[in-house]
Amino acid sequence: MNIDGKALAQELRDTLTIEVKKLKDERNITPGLTVVLVGEDPASQVYVRNKVRQTQEVGMISNKISLPVETPQQALLDQLHVLNNDPTVHGILVQLPLPSHIDEALVIETIAPEKDVDGFHPINSGGLCNGDDGALVPCTPQGCILLAKKHLGDNLSGKHAVVIGRSNIVGKPVALLLLQESCTVTIAHSRTQNLPALCAQADILVAAVGRPEMVKSEWVKPGATVIDVGINRIPTEDGKGRLVGDVDYADVQPVAGAITPVPGGVGPMTIACLLKNTLEAARRFG
Ligand code: GUN
Repeated sequence: MNIDGKALAQELRDTLTIEVKKLKDERNITPGLTVVLVGEDPASQVYVRNKVRQTQEVGMISNKISLPVETPQQALLDQLHVLNNDPTVHGILVQLPLPSHIDEALVIETIAPEKDVDGFHPINSGGLCNGDDGALVPCTPQGCILLAKKHLGDNLSGKHAVVIGRSNIVGKPVALLLLQESCTVTIAHSRTQNLPALCAQADILVAAVGRPEMVKSEWVKPGATVIDVGINRIPTEDGKGRLVGDVDYADVQPVAGAITPVPGGVGPMTIACLLKNTLEAARRFG
């Protein structure tokens, strides 16, 4: 069975639209999200365009700041200080990756933690680690949990979750969220031994490695819930390429209890959760 991320994201955006209107009516606050894009990376441009459109669709104020690729680091930091001090901006997102002359960690640390709707600031990642309810949680991991719950219901307690991947953006935070849900969590990565056998023990398998169609049916326990975070473009004969996940969908789908497709699974949930974080930031600090 498929877990339909597109439909769940639409449901979430419908709820957010109502909540945004309520915040406007009751407290005269319109949540504002500013996205900063440095350079002209085509994939980033597509992501940013989608973010801007969906922000407006739920009734929030969307601002986009496009800076040239050669922007000095200090100019970006100065821009962030301006946004930190702007009361109409509740969420700030600097699209990654940044050009190589800019220190990504420094940029993230410069964003005010209460406006860090990506949840990447050490105050927020530390808060997530400590189980602090007030932390802003990274968007893709939040989306993974909502998708798993869509199939399994709200109680994930006691399930064995295996996360393949240990990035700061997905692997680590999704593992911490699963732990918060009282799952038994294993984090696997490129050095893990007997990876297929380990994955085959998972009730919930989250693949976030960026290797096209790596996870095969033998890696999946019959009936398991499979969350595929990968977005990989593989070449096709017509030269256009095709998007595939980290899971071999055709192979795994018959074995899994439920699986998120690529595209249409985790991807749409990420932006919906970004808007959820922006609403949360506006509610708390607006
Ligand atoms: N680039 C790819 N994914 C993301 C994300 O979740 N946040 C930001 N800021 N940049 C990204």
